[in-house]
Amino acid sequence: MENTVRKAIFAGSFDPITNGHLDIIERASKLFDELQIGVLYNPNKKGLFTFEERVKLIKECTNHISNIKIVSFDGLLVNYCEKNGIQTLVRGIRNGADVEYELQMAHMNKELNPNIETVILPTTTKYSYISSSLIKEVLNFDANIENLVPKVILEELKRKTNRGK
Ligand code: PNS
Repeated sequence: MENTVRKAIFAGSFDPITNGHLDIIERASKLFDELQIGVLYNPNKKGLFTFEERVKLIKECTNHISNIKIVSFDGLLVNYCEKNGIQTLVRGIRNGADVEYELQMAHMNKELNPNIETVILPTTTKYSYISSSLIKEVLNFDANIENLVPKVILEELKRKTNRGK
């Protein structure tokens, strides 16, 4: 067990990646040998960004972290982990509502595959109100979101929606 490569995955939709996601990614990458960022591939769920765009943007925002690998998955996350030798799911929590939801997911994933652990990181306080959906909502009203997303995401959001300052 001692020489096992410690692999974890931080999975999500990332439509788009935010400073909150990046906070968790940067901190989790220091805890594991390899951190995969698992982008959920779901052709039935239409986001603002296409799957390909989301992957490209995540790459651009994380290229300063050396032990990151960006992957796509569909189906059950624990099945992807089992197939790819990943022992840990990383999740971030911002508030009490997240705790409830994340605990439920952690218990369900444990039931589905008892070999895979969930590690939950509380987000850094200043990012605790950020979510991709809230960012898209306030952008509709031309809000200034420059503190909430990386610069490249800000530019893409403005370009796609013709909104924002
Ligand atoms: O961006 P999100 O909504 O936080 O991502 C949630 C995600 C994609 C990690 C979760 O819905 C998931 O793992 N989906 C894959 C299907 C699955 O394994 N479902 C069981 C979860 S208990």
